[in-house]
Amino acid sequence: MAEILPATEEAIDKGASLLREGKLVAFPTETVYGLGACAFLPRAVARVFEVKERPFFDPLIVHVAEPGMAEELWERVDPRARLLIECFWPGPLTLVLPKRPVVPDIVTAGLPTVAVRMPAHPVALALIRKARVPVAAPSANLFGRLSPTLAQHVAKQVGGQIELIIDGGRCPVGVESTVIELVEEAVLLRPGGVPLEDIERVIGKVRVDFQAASPRSPGQLPSHYAPLIPLKIVPLETPPPLGLRVGFLAFRRVEHPEWFETVEILSPSGDLQEAAANFFACLHRLEEARLDLIYVEPVPEVGLGRAIMDRLRKASKALEYWK
Ligand code: TXA
Ligand code: MG
Repeated sequence: MAEILPATEEAIDKGASLLREGKLVAFPTETVYGLGACAFLPRAVARVFEVKERPFFDPLIVHVAEPGMAEELWERVDPRARLLIECFWPGPLTLVLPKRPVVPDIVTAGLPTVAVRMPAHPVALALIRKARVPVAAPSANLFGRLSPTLAQHVAKQVGGQIELIIDGGRCPVGVESTVIELVEEAVLLRPGGVPLEDIERVIGKVRVDFQAASPRSPGQLPSHYAPLIPLKIVPLETPPPLGLRVGFLAFRRVEHPEWFETVEILSPSGDLQEAAANFFACLHRLEEARLDLIYVEPVPEVGLGRAIMDRLRKASKALEYWK
């Protein structure tokens, strides 16, 4: 079982040494916990895929501690990338641009581009700085399952297979980074922690491609982010079928708590930022509540609500998969 250490300087030093030795370290970011490996060590990166049971065609995000580190990974930095970096880094925005040969193919699944972001989390930044290498890190969950926003979530899914989990408490943003490709026209590949509206204010119109039928970014795979229990999006608080243990994930409030085995509320004040921060933790608790079915009420599809609804739709598509 992985050692779980609070995020002290000592733990960060230890994590940095492990990364340099080609070992895996889970660490907190502002979005979700990452499962990190040194991006320049293909065998360490291969181990990330193995531990996550992630298909090799799904490329990883490389984490850097400053924009200069990104410039060493990308072939060229597009003027739009410069603007976005100025506005949103450090932060939950990943940019996909043509890569340099130093980036191993296993990181990018053989694609000619590499996804890079600078996280806005002091522990993540200190770890990358101390390791002095870019860190390839997907979310620290098993492939297709719920993302981790607490160290215990990481321990539950992959703790048995890694060396160290650095515990930095709860991830404040709670949904993964927004992924934007800037090869030709700007394309949104995954809605996330930076709202699309904010990005368009800086670089103008962005093509939305994240619901495409044939995914160009594997985060677009239809079933993803799923609890181990079937999840269904219901238009309103709907009475559950008789005889089933049903949990309800509400946006602001519930009128009939007695209908459900258990109820989770994303944000009593209707704040989408708070809802995103609570989102995965609520789903983890529902997953553990021995239910037959989870009902979820949709949230408004603006700002961070877009990222939440994207994850909910993908989780609900897994319904047939788990049956
Ligand atoms: O917030 C986040 O981004 C978290 C934390 C740990 O930083 N990381 C994360 O990584 O969500 P992961 O591996 O779960 O998601 C990476 C996403 C996937 O949808 C992947 O397909 C896409 O980024 N991606 C990575 N490289 C790409 C590339 N070269 N072209 C297109 N999409 C890419
Ligand atoms: Mg993920």
